[in-house]
Amino acid sequence: MEVRLQKFLAEAGIASRRKAEELIVMGKVQVNGKVVTELGTKVDTQKDVVLYQNKKVEMKQNFVYIMLHKPEGYVTTVKDQFQRPTVIDLLKDITERVYPVGRLDYDTSGLLLLTNDGDLTYCLTHPKHHIEKTYEAKLFGTPSEHNIIQFRRGIVIDGKKTEPAKLEILQKEKKYTTVRIVIQEGRNRQVRKMCQAIKHPVAQLKRIGTGTLFLKDLKKGNYRYLTQKEISYLKSL
Ligand code: URA
Repeated sequence: MEVRLQKFLAEAGIASRRKAEELIVMGKVQVNGKVVTELGTKVDTQKDVVLYQNKKVEMKQNFVYIMLHKPEGYVTTVKDQFQRPTVIDLLKDITERVYPVGRLDYDTSGLLLLTNDGDLTYCLTHPKHHIEKTYEAKLFGTPSEHNIIQFRRGIVIDGKKTEPAKLEILQKEKKYTTVRIVIQEGRNRQVRKMCQAIKHPVAQLKRIGTGTLFLKDLKKGNYRYLTQKEISYLKSL
């Protein structure tokens, strides 16, 4: 994110914006090794190195934690090579540069966390942490008791067995069955591949929970900030 140098200094707690302007004009501030006296100078808060009194100035980062109900038809990458809409396009009034925690397929809807807290993202997406993810899916046909046992035992996808997973029947219709699925990993298209493996492919997929955080009544396309309690919970994982 690019900001004016005086704003950067003010937000880092060096001085008020007015006072920061004076410091700049007096030649007391360096950007990337050069003294800058121009007030309009912009700095990239991630890349540029700003020095004041020979010390690096760090912007106090404002960490934000967001829960989004992702609609189908959005990618969870920040930029898409095919110019498809990205989940970032949905965050209308968020000025921080946030990133999705993990991913959801283009055609999957549901709970997606986004944050600019890189440490938390790293922890939550690390394969050694088995954080339960809960999905509701509409499957073709009706899974059998044996399929439920297969999920519990693990299913080989992409040459590797999955961790034990839960499959629970919620509602049967003529052609489809609505199920709840809980997995512990986040492998690529894992739910779709597991359902394909038991020959009940996914028609519709929605993530409703990550750990103990659930979408509840958050409407599709809407988002909200996590509460302090929810943030502490995620950090405790
Ligand atoms: N499993 C899938 O197959 N797709 C997702 O988006 C998430 C989990």
